[in-house]
Amino acid sequence: MERAVRVGVLASGRGSNFEALWRAAQRQELQARVVCLVSDRPDAACLKRAAEWDLPRLCLETRSSKARLPREQEEEIVTYLRQHDVDLVCLAGFMRIIGKTVLEAFPGAILNIHPSLLPSFPGLAAQQQAMEHGVKVAGCSVHFVDAGVDSGPIIAQAAVEVQEEDTPETLAARILEREHVIYPQAVRLWAMGCLQIQGRRVHIVPPGCGNRGPIREESF
Ligand code: GRF
Repeated sequence: MERAVRVGVLASGRGSNFEALWRAAQRQELQARVVCLVSDRPDAACLKRAAEWDLPRLCLETRSSKARLPREQEEEIVTYLRQHDVDLVCLAGFMRIIGKTVLEAFPGAILNIHPSLLPSFPGLAAQQQAMEHGVKVAGCSVHFVDAGVDSGPIIAQAAVEVQEEDTPETLAARILEREHVIYPQAVRLWAMGCLQIQGRRVHIVPPGCGNRGPIREESF
């Protein structure tokens, strides 16, 4: 028997990707369940969404706006995720760089969504960076998280054409639609054990043949 992979989401803002994952899981499309949310911003809309769904959530009490959280707070995140038996961590607009403590607690089990065709335009305001650079094709990427910024092996990407009349906002809105499609797809592949990392490349392999097979315990 396989049990659904348990997903913990880390988010700082509006939480539309968090919602896309949650909804896909509710429709049983993921072979995974979203079991909790962690946020670093008490006023974040994602926390309100989680409250509406009665989903367990943790809001970190931090006044620091540094890109990296202090080690104690990373430990708090790890403890919370472990309490909820999380197998896979999904960053969904989490505005902090993941440090060693979280990375080492979930090896090969942290994913992120980024609104550019990586490796172009990592970091903040990716859609604006893309427009300022004058690219004709922008997009989004789901990737494994490593110690860098938006630098881990790429799992899935979607391309979005830049229109003449686009602003960073209109482009971001069209990219976001694609984010909501490829992120659940990538989570499903992870949950099915279909992702195999070789160097920088992520190969899609038959279910259970990847680095991390389906979790066999209780019934789904
Ligand atoms: C998305 O554009 C995502 O790619 C980026 O941050 C944004 C989060 O949006 N990492 P939301 O909170 O999921 O709506």
